[in-house]
Amino acid sequence: MSLLKLDNVTIRFGGLIAVDKVNLTVEQGEILSLIGPNGAGKSTIFNLITGIYSPTEGNIYFEDRSIGSKKPYHLAAAGIARTFQTIHLFNNLTVLDNVLIGAHTRGKWNVTGALLKFTPWVRGEERELTEWAYDCLERVNLADKADELAMNLSYGAQRRLEIARGLAVRPKLLLLDEPAAGMNPQEKATLLKMVKAIRDSGVTIFLVEHDMKFVMSISERISVLDYGVKIAEGPPEAIRSNPKVIEAYLGKGAVNSA
Ligand SMILES: Nc1ncnc2c1ncn2[C@@H]1O[C@H](COP(=O)(O)OP(=O)(O)O)[C@@H](O)[C@H]1O
Ligand SMILES: [Mg+2]
Repeated sequence: MSLLKLDNVTIRFGGLIAVDKVNLTVEQGEILSLIGPNGAGKSTIFNLITGIYSPTEGNIYFEDRSIGSKKPYHLAAAGIARTFQTIHLFNNLTVLDNVLIGAHTRGKWNVTGALLKFTPWVRGEERELTEWAYDCLERVNLADKADELAMNLSYGAQRRLEIARGLAVRPKLLLLDEPAAGMNPQEKATLLKMVKAIRDSGVTIFLVEHDMKFVMSISERISVLDYGVKIAEGPPEAIRSNPKVIEAYLGKGAVNSA
């Protein structure tokens, strides 16, 4: 059983076919990357998997259950977490609170819980969640920044905080949309190790990334999208030398320079 399966998925925005009959699986425990030129439909695929959009045609299955029409909240509760291409943090909250917001998605704790804060069982659970939030921060090397405001973190650290927030929902599948964007080479090398460690802890990773060096060194398999169509899929070595892929990137030098 594949963890995630896109079955002939199409989405249209007016006259534009952003994703065109895509078949794709993510296998339990792997790191799969999705690459392709700007506008190829990569983020749209993440938006489909996380319930922001529903497919116009086709369906999506998570653990063999149809999720094509489920809402984002249900998908987070089912074990799908994500980061966004552009940073989506609560700037005026602390690093810890940004992660706790993720943790609450799966806890019994909710708004009613917040109002009933004085009851012992809620306090107990809150303590558990705080410990869990610290664990998540440790996995991206941010535990020592827990009390700082999110807006005061460096750009690279903000991107890592987004990952910690994703981890807080205890995902089975973590979607990372251009996690290395804007990072310097040293930050990218650290991120690479962190993502591998997250996978080794049992979280399946589906990644969109433009940095070919990063993609080639982290992925077991790579899928390539061009104008919404999947044009190639395979291990990094095969993708690097695939004529269709080289053509899609022609003039951009992205694949050859990796
Ligand atoms: N909500 C939307 N409405 C209209 N067009 C959209 C919408 N979302 C994405 N698109 C279009 O779909 C195509 C794919 O976009 P996107 O998935 O963001 O590409 P990528 O992430 O591969 O760069 C683009 O042409 C984009 O303009
Ligand atoms: Mg995108």
